[in-house]
Amino acid sequence: MKRVFLFTGGTSELGKATILRLLQDKNGDDEYIVHGSSTSHKLKWLEDKIGNDKLHYIGADFSRRAGVDAFLAEFKRLELVPTHWIHLPAPSLEFTQFAKTSLISMDKNLQIGVYSAFSIAQVIIPQMKKVKRGKVVFVLSSCILSKTKYMASYSIAKHALLGLMQSLVAEYESSGININAVAPSMMQTQFINQIPELAISSIRESSRLNKLVDISDVADGISFLLSSKIMSGVVLPITL
Ligand SMILES: NC(=O)c1ccc[n+]([C@@H]2O[C@H](COP(=O)([O-])OP(=O)(O)OC[C@H]3O[C@@H](n4cnc5c(N)ncnc54)[C@H](OP(=O)(O)O)[C@@H]3O)[C@@H](O)[C@H]2O)c1
Repeated sequence: MKRVFLFTGGTSELGKATILRLLQDKNGDDEYIVHGSSTSHKLKWLEDKIGNDKLHYIGADFSRRAGVDAFLAEFKRLELVPTHWIHLPAPSLEFTQFAKTSLISMDKNLQIGVYSAFSIAQVIIPQMKKVKRGKVVFVLSSCILSKTKYMASYSIAKHALLGLMQSLVAEYESSGININAVAPSMMQTQFINQIPELAISSIRESSRLNKLVDISDVADGISFLLSSKIMSGVVLPITL
């Protein structure tokens, strides 16, 4: 059966690792709708693997409401109903004391990660309900599992995304739509470029295996949730 994968924030390092993981079980008919923040697309590697007729790139800046609207307009033009949706966008992680955290940072985290998911879900989930199938994975963070210092705006946005996920699960779990999430701890990607090395070392040293989580382990977790027929409402911790 033809699958249509929608990756919002699909240009992320984790998005790339997940797409590569899914391509291991490639089906010739699969199509990929991949979103990134910029209008120029940097997915030549994927185009080379699946061909440009199966790849639809949508560039849109989710930090502005107009960007999400532009994304949805472009998405509707494709006339494709996603069978799988993976939501990954987030601004780079800031390491700031709560007292110094600005409303601008708070707003950016909510706009890019949460309001985008809310508006996109309002379009996609009813489409999935109509065809009685759909798999959704939200990428959260281990900050929803325990107390974390110096990342309030990020943590608040991920908790809000969890709230959205649970609301969707409650309303749609009997409609053939499976909605789950992964909650990974820190991975070495550009997302943590602004975090002081000392803080990263301390997270590494306090982990079970004295290392950060591998992106490929998180990609495996997402792939597992996407392949499950029964799992719904699960938040899968991927931590060390
Ligand atoms: N790395 C970690 O330690 C870690 C740990 C737990 C959870 N996560 C989560 O994993 C996900 C992927 O992160 P990553 O580590 O792979 O980081 P990344 O490579 O920096 O990816 C960030 C993604 O967000 C998109 N984005 C940023 N600003 C945007 C904007 N204004 N409008 C629309 N999209 C925007 C980026 O698009 P462009 O690339 O096109 O700009 C990119 O696709 C995020 O949700 C993050 O919270 C990461």
